[in-house]
Amino acid sequence: MKVSVKVPATSANIGPGFDCLGLALPIYNTITIEETVLPGTGVEINLMSENDIIDEMIFDNVPKDENSIIYKAVEMLYNSIGQEPSELKINIQSQIPITRGLGSSASVVVGGLIAANKLLGSPADETALLSIATEVEGHPDNVAPAILGGFVMASQEDDGSIICEKLNWPEEWDITVCIPDFELSTNIARSVLPENVPLQDAVFNAKHLAMLIQAVNNKDEKLMKMALHDKLHQPYREKLVPGMKEIMDAFKHEDGVIGCVLSGAGPSLLVISHKYDLDKIKSVVKDIWEGQSIKTDIRTLKIEPEGAKIIE
Ligand code: HSE
Repeated sequence: MKVSVKVPATSANIGPGFDCLGLALPIYNTITIEETVLPGTGVEINLMSENDIIDEMIFDNVPKDENSIIYKAVEMLYNSIGQEPSELKINIQSQIPITRGLGSSASVVVGGLIAANKLLGSPADETALLSIATEVEGHPDNVAPAILGGFVMASQEDDGSIICEKLNWPEEWDITVCIPDFELSTNIARSVLPENVPLQDAVFNAKHLAMLIQAVNNKDEKLMKMALHDKLHQPYREKLVPGMKEIMDAFKHEDGVIGCVLSGAGPSLLVISHKYDLDKIKSVVKDIWEGQSIKTDIRTLKIEPEGAKIIE
């Protein structure tokens, strides 16, 4: 038996929503798990990139054995019903750029779990899958929108349970994803964050997250522009992303550009706009990054509304 799952890319945080907000984007990885008939063949993992040569090189360094994140997720699911994974062939067909803050690892975790769950006769419900995926990833803000699609608020509570709600994203707000040609691992991007933050910074983010929720509910661009500020992660990560500050500053006072935020842990950036010249966004970002010898892939995308889907 063979199951294929198509899983969208995701962008986490959206400014003040560090580790709790994320949205799904229409760039996909397809994860196929096949039960092989030969006993003792173990688990085989193959990756195929549909991206450029740089990704091919990164792919060579991604674990394809028991140390891989997809194997860990699948193993946790099997173990939860008292089984061990074996005789499985896992193929990952990837369109989501790796280590760019677009949820590529979340997508393989989610795809692996949904496919393995189907092979096992669906013992786990969506909440259980979300919980395993969060445990593997460490935070729910990519895995939740990867599973559910759309714009999602997700929280892992102190007892481990996951609270997850879909929010409305105003359809008329454009999302331009700016992907640079350099990688930044989430581990490195998290290592620069402080263990503790000043109380006023925590309050700053709480206020801005509250504004953001109200702004998307009311499609209030002016409020959203105020809301898209963060003091918990972006200021610390700025030094890891050349050009980030210049790009953010360039859009600060542009009418029609609602905001520019780091996508997940970076280095990609999201520019949110309404009725604004999308070519202008591209040329501003391109000029700044190319001025620093950074090549770019810039795409304006609609939110992916549905999330992961079994396709065969
Ligand atoms: N919320 C996480 C972070 C997303 O910013 O580290 C990582 O993909």
